[in-house]
Amino acid sequence: MPSHYTFAPRIKLPPAPFRKKISQKQSLMQKQPEQSRMDKIVSLAKRRGFIFQSSEIYGGLNGFWDYGPLGVALKRNLKECWWHDMLTGHDELATLPGAPTPYEMTGLDCTIIMHPQVWKCSGHFDLFHDWLVDCRESKRRYRYDHLKGRWASHREKRVFVVTEQSGDEALVETAAKAQKFFGLRANKSSEIEWAEAMVPLAGNAPFAEALGPDAASPGTLTEPREFNLMFETRIGALAGNDDDRAFLRPETAQGIFMNFKNVVDTSRVRVPFGIGQIGKSFRNEITPRNFTFRSREFEQMEIEFFCKPNDSAEWYRFWRDRRWNWYLNLGLTPGRLQLREHDADELSHYSVGTADIEYAFPFLPDGEFGELEGIAHRGDFDLRSHMEGKLVRRDGELVVETDDAGKPRHRGSGKDLSYFDDISRERFVPHVIEPSAGADRAVLAFLCDAYHEDEVPDEDGKPRSRTVLKLHPRLAPLKVAILPLVKKDGMPEVAIDLYRKLKPQMATMYDEKGSIGRRYARQDEAGTPWCITVDGQTLADTTVTLRDRDSLTQVRVPLDECVDLLRSRLA
Ligand code: GAP
Repeated sequence: MPSHYTFAPRIKLPPAPFRKKISQKQSLMQKQPEQSRMDKIVSLAKRRGFIFQSSEIYGGLNGFWDYGPLGVALKRNLKECWWHDMLTGHDELATLPGAPTPYEMTGLDCTIIMHPQVWKCSGHFDLFHDWLVDCRESKRRYRYDHLKGRWASHREKRVFVVTEQSGDEALVETAAKAQKFFGLRANKSSEIEWAEAMVPLAGNAPFAEALGPDAASPGTLTEPREFNLMFETRIGALAGNDDDRAFLRPETAQGIFMNFKNVVDTSRVRVPFGIGQIGKSFRNEITPRNFTFRSREFEQMEIEFFCKPNDSAEWYRFWRDRRWNWYLNLGLTPGRLQLREHDADELSHYSVGTADIEYAFPFLPDGEFGELEGIAHRGDFDLRSHMEGKLVRRDGELVVETDDAGKPRHRGSGKDLSYFDDISRERFVPHVIEPSAGADRAVLAFLCDAYHEDEVPDEDGKPRSRTVLKLHPRLAPLKVAILPLVKKDGMPEVAIDLYRKLKPQMATMYDEKGSIGRRYARQDEAGTPWCITVDGQTLADTTVTLRDRDSLTQVRVPLDECVDLLRSRLA
């Protein structure tokens, strides 16, 4: 389901056919090698101070995560790469490959709480919900669109065995559940007859015959009910009536639409141009899971790109490809990335295209991908909704939704958000292309992709296994570590002097504690691309050893060339 279509419900009833997107629960019965890899990544993330569970000393809070010293540096670097590559570093005079014309980019930083009418006209108030199902027996709660299953029969009995799993895990789990349900020994399990396909629960089985994922008997799942994902709050000390209700933003995009006119009126930008924003968003997810992948508080990096309606198809393709290349240029493994164009039945009526950039996260079954970013063609829906009132689609047209009295269901601002092109002398409501990325998901993808285990020779030349994060140097929390070989003979003094030269230029660490092998290992786990060792030879010929994290090559470099050399490698 294209969840970034903010005006569409997160799922429809019955939900669209299940698409391979994310697995919901890791099987306890069949741990896959990729899962143990994920466990190791989560453990490294905690051990080395990348990511901690929020409020951990009180038992943690599901769906909320804190970034530790290395994690905050990694996340800031990622966001700075995005901000630089998309906005500040963009050449506004050039026509980039695939772009119809040159274009301008600018930025914003909007509030998290906005006027409640924003969410009424955007569609979030009415439609930004998931359908949830409760289990009366296990007291567990599920997203309806995540439940699927298959029919099993044995002699006269028949049951629809439900699972949250995907792929092979779903088959293994349903097989084990059916065996238990029919009271069969393992050697009799072949007596169970299966309907072939794994199908969504929605529309395929009566709830009375559905055996819930954590239930022992059928009929314990409740009918699905809507659950709005926006966190609600109240404004002001006398808060109490409905007018004081406000919401924590579930996307940063709406702040950009709110300021479209301000930006046009106060800066010199002309259509086509884009506005970027990075900031927190909040969604009261029913089932936050898979580490930071689905959190309740997370950061988005969003661009709303405003263009002429006639050029919008070309701009959509440009942004889809530009964002795809951004991930590749920062080093994500091409084979683990997938660009998934939405099928025609997934597109909104005006959309000429929507694509998701997806990554094969290790917590997913083989061959499945999770969304990193969506690139959506939103037409003029947003600007018109905020002018005219919440729009709905009727007979192929976007029209203002009305109540029983024929009045707009949710009033727009009444402000004119059209754009006048003073060269072509045309007035129009710009169309919008929206590349919408999650900063936390991107951090998770880069962490997973960077995680490697290999062998390196120790100080005595014996192979030693190492864990290394092969992060792109632009993303790495630390760029270089300065290591005196021993804490004597004048080596620390030379090393500290070099550290002081490098520190103002890039994230640099000084470390003199422990054997050199252990110090290299610590830096490898932190993803530091280079280590510089000051040793006996340094004192004789003023050269140092520069060690490369990935190739493990060690070359001698003149001490006074280190700063320029590393600066040029980072450029
Ligand atoms: N304005 C469009 C929009 O918000 P979306 O697909 O709902 O679209 C965009 O969200 C991106 O935000 C996703 O691709 C994902 O990277 C990130 N995101 C969405 N929900 C998230 C969650 N619960 N936890 C972490 N990241 C999330």
